[in-house]
Amino acid sequence: MSTSTSPGTTTTHGGHVDRIFNFSAGPAALPEEIIQKAQQDIWNIHGSGIGILEHSHRGPVFDRVLAEAEEACRRVSGLGDDWEILFIQGGATTQFAMMPMNFLPADGTADYLDTGVWAHKSIAEARHFGNVNVAFDGTQCNYDHVPGSDEINQTEGAAYFHYCSNNTVFGTRFENIPDSDSPLICDTSSEMFGRPFDWDRHCAIYAGAQKNLGPSGVALVLLKKDFAEQGRTDLPSMFCYARHSKAGSRLNTPPTFGIYMMGQVFNWIHEQGGLTEMERRNSEKSSIIYDAIDTSGGFYTGLAQESSRSHMNVSFRLPTEELDDRFVEEAAAEKMDGLKGHRDAGGIRASIYNAFPREGCECLASFMKEFAARNG
Ligand SMILES: Cc1ncc(COP(=O)(O)O)c(C=O)c1O
Repeated sequence: MSTSTSPGTTTTHGGHVDRIFNFSAGPAALPEEIIQKAQQDIWNIHGSGIGILEHSHRGPVFDRVLAEAEEACRRVSGLGDDWEILFIQGGATTQFAMMPMNFLPADGTADYLDTGVWAHKSIAEARHFGNVNVAFDGTQCNYDHVPGSDEINQTEGAAYFHYCSNNTVFGTRFENIPDSDSPLICDTSSEMFGRPFDWDRHCAIYAGAQKNLGPSGVALVLLKKDFAEQGRTDLPSMFCYARHSKAGSRLNTPPTFGIYMMGQVFNWIHEQGGLTEMERRNSEKSSIIYDAIDTSGGFYTGLAQESSRSHMNVSFRLPTEELDDRFVEEAAAEKMDGLKGHRDAGGIRASIYNAFPREGCECLASFMKEFAARNG
């Protein structure tokens, strides 16, 4: 393998000499050792003489890759056999449509919490298939917090209750799972496997891979089997969970590389100490940046209320948009990329998923202090 552009061994800027701190919201930083291993497996996986990108999805090598990915997913999550694990193309946005298509009868109602840009989009998709009750409307508070139970207006007998556990754009999260009597469905795209989760309170959980799990284009979908059995079966096959389950995630040519990468990342999480360790690291990493906001004497303002602060996406703004822009530009010159806030929120957003190193958070916090001292 070439060494000139591969990650080297000299560590100068947190990681390798030719890599920089990547604060992108997704696709996002992946564990460096997994990227290096993938480079080898793209060339020749399991001594087969063929790379992972080139193997048939029906051959024995991919059989093994898929089985190992599912097994690693069960190991890291602790999910039992009463859960179906599926890898489905089309990212989380396809899941926005598939969940109602499969589980929302045309005359039924589903409860949705509108807690951010992505939750809002999931509502628009569900409306194609049935009635949606917006049980919390976060547009009223500019998505600065997630609701407590006193702010949620549920429907009795709803087909399901959908929420997004971590809101990527404004940087809020549910510390606790919202209370609901209806089957819970959760979009965990931007914090999947970032902390222990009470899976069994849910009926369906999904996540686009490109933040904490792997490359873009594929979603991890977890379905409680007894709930999945109630889903529609008279749908076009690519949109029907029952068909995907029956085909074991190989209804058509699946995203083989994405599944391979997820398997590797699940193993990495397990080897690092699992979800408890991920939570410990993510909590520490995010506090480093939140401390820099809170001790800035008002120079930096967090977009999220303190009680709703995300450990994955830290969002804040400076006193003016011009300073926001200068901050992003100067941070880039210091090898910190991807800090510009989402177009709907403005400001700055530091996305610091599982694989993002603590040194990057320290580097950003010290840059924030220095920038505020120069411009405050
Ligand atoms: C919470 C959340 N849900 C859904 C999506 C959409 O994911 P995809 O682009 O994979 O469709 C995103 C993307 O950033 C997200 O952050």
